[in-house]
Amino acid sequence: MIGVFDSGFGGLSILKDLQKALPNHDFLYLGDNARAPYGTRSFETIHRYTWQAVSYLLEQCPLVILACNTASARALRTIQQKNLPQSKHSQSKVLGIIRPTTEVIGNYSKNNRVGLFATPGTVLSNTYSIEISRLFPHLKLSQQACPFWVPLVENRELNSEGARFFVKRDVQALLKKDPQMDTVLLACTHYPLLTPLIQEFLPPHITLLSQGPIVAQKTLDYLKNHPEVEQKLSKSGSTQFLTTDTVDFFKKGAELFLDSEMSIKSLTFV
Ligand code: DGL
Repeated sequence: MIGVFDSGFGGLSILKDLQKALPNHDFLYLGDNARAPYGTRSFETIHRYTWQAVSYLLEQCPLVILACNTASARALRTIQQKNLPQSKHSQSKVLGIIRPTTEVIGNYSKNNRVGLFATPGTVLSNTYSIEISRLFPHLKLSQQACPFWVPLVENRELNSEGARFFVKRDVQALLKKDPQMDTVLLACTHYPLLTPLIQEFLPPHITLLSQGPIVAQKTLDYLKNHPEVEQKLSKSGSTQFLTTDTVDFFKKGAELFLDSEMSIKSLTFV
């Protein structure tokens, strides 16, 4: 199976596009809902939680995708360089979603002015800015941390008074940083659910990008270029779900992202 990990429901916005791009592949999704949000936690905690979940997925998945920007920014490098090579899964692969996004982001802007919304953890890591400056040196990037957006989505508050307040506040703060930006990236996999609200406060000429289609295309390319990984993946078109919260809790939240029947199991990390 292809393992897909997120702190909670957000990674489902990536899973949906992965399923479309790879309809015959099998997926195992793990949402650490009981410990979400990650975005306001320390580097050490994000790394520890992520490696715990990834190790679990690696038992069944030769390829794991961190469908979470915060985990990609804070934990991926240590996992790839230290944890994975020292583990019994050293032949397996763990990929993030920041690199595939930064590889194409510059192609969307006509004036090289891009903004992004992300969790405080992602913004603090400066990963987007470092990667983009290497690949698109002329691109001006403005970043806005949105500490309340993930809790809003995890609590299924997509258009409440509170959601409107925080989304409006953070959109205005980003626009103020660079009024000329023509492209805005949702650099947190939870945020696509807030798209209708974000768009209410964003000028219509600005292109709003979600990562799902980008990550799906890049995964297709990756599997084409890595037949040794591709041949290890099972293909019966199934998806199973794991959550660290209750099955009921996960089912209610996941319904916002996916409309198919779900096979969900609960697990606990100690
Ligand atoms: N979906 C995660 C991301 O893409 C949210 C992390 C969180 O739990 O704060 O960053």
